[in-house]
Amino acid sequence: MYGEKREKNIWAIGGGKGGIGKSFVVANLGIALCERGKEVILVDADLGGANLHTLLGITYPTITLDDFIRKEVRNIEDVLVETEVPHLKLISGSLDILTMSNPKYTQKQRVIRHIYSLDADYIIIDLGAGSSYHVLDFFLVSERGIFLITPEPTSLENAYRFLKGVFFRKLRNLTSQYEVKKIIELAMDRGNPEGIKTPFDLLERVEGIDREMGALLKEEIRRFRPQLIVNQVRNRAEAEIGFFVKSACRKYFGIELSYLGYIFYDHNVYLSIQKGRPLLLNHPTSDAARCIRDITSKLINGGELSWSLR
Ligand SMILES: Nc1ncnc2c1ncn2[C@@H]1O[C@H](COP(=O)(O)OP(=O)(O)OP(=O)(O)O)[C@@H](O)[C@H]1O
Ligand SMILES: [Mg+2]
Repeated sequence: MYGEKREKNIWAIGGGKGGIGKSFVVANLGIALCERGKEVILVDADLGGANLHTLLGITYPTITLDDFIRKEVRNIEDVLVETEVPHLKLISGSLDILTMSNPKYTQKQRVIRHIYSLDADYIIIDLGAGSSYHVLDFFLVSERGIFLITPEPTSLENAYRFLKGVFFRKLRNLTSQYEVKKIIELAMDRGNPEGIKTPFDLLERVEGIDREMGALLKEEIRRFRPQLIVNQVRNRAEAEIGFFVKSACRKYFGIELSYLGYIFYDHNVYLSIQKGRPLLLNHPTSDAARCIRDITSKLINGGELSWSLR
């Protein structure tokens, strides 16, 4: 069952901050992909705060990730549930705080391994808030995670922490050399006595210890290309924040982001959530729905927003 079944894309959506619209985007992105004829599986990996099912109009899922974690079923496919959208399936998050809010390492690895084995064109993983190791590890399941922010300074602050955490965690997983691992772990601690603040500082330190490893990590920085979405945008200036975040990441961290696009702040989002019906079904022609479809095209085609498109 672990063999590759077809070419598939796995995207995890994170952003560090709570309540910025991660689950809303996951649900509607899934629907937009289905509108384009794709088969999609959504995975609710929000440990301890699962609610993706509610956004899809499923009040109480009969089977969830709990059943898989407790080994009541063998395969993760056994906890897939249908949604009202053809070709859109859901793996509901754990509703049992004790089981999943702090999973054991082996439990998490088993979930991750099985996510890779799922058979669909697109697998989208919804993450919880924060930058804990669990969140970072689920974000790193995808080659090109989707990084969601809102224009608020608090979101940008958390996003920076999140991105840095993801990046350092990725590098840490790449090396087994004790000394290098130790430096990377130190760098993750903000008040580290080594004064390592950015990926640039970290690279310099690693190169000093092991040139070859330094070159490998440099290559990883070059390949690491998270995709950025700005949600809850109220005007053009807020949409442009995506471009500024992109250039700040390049300049200060050497990390290249793809700015996929923005989603308008739209009261219809609130109305659709109140109704328990996804925006793309409840308000298919709303401004926010249009933005999500534009972003979906960029995701499918590998494009990004350009200044000239403003
Ligand atoms: N584009 C938007 N326009 C208007 N309101 C929005 C938009 N996006 C999100 N919201 C509002 O933000 C709320 C939180 O969204 P959501 O639950 O998707 O956030 P989240 O990041 O998944 O939160 P958590 O970290 O708690 O899981 C929604 O209930 C909705 O009211
Ligand atoms: Mg959520």
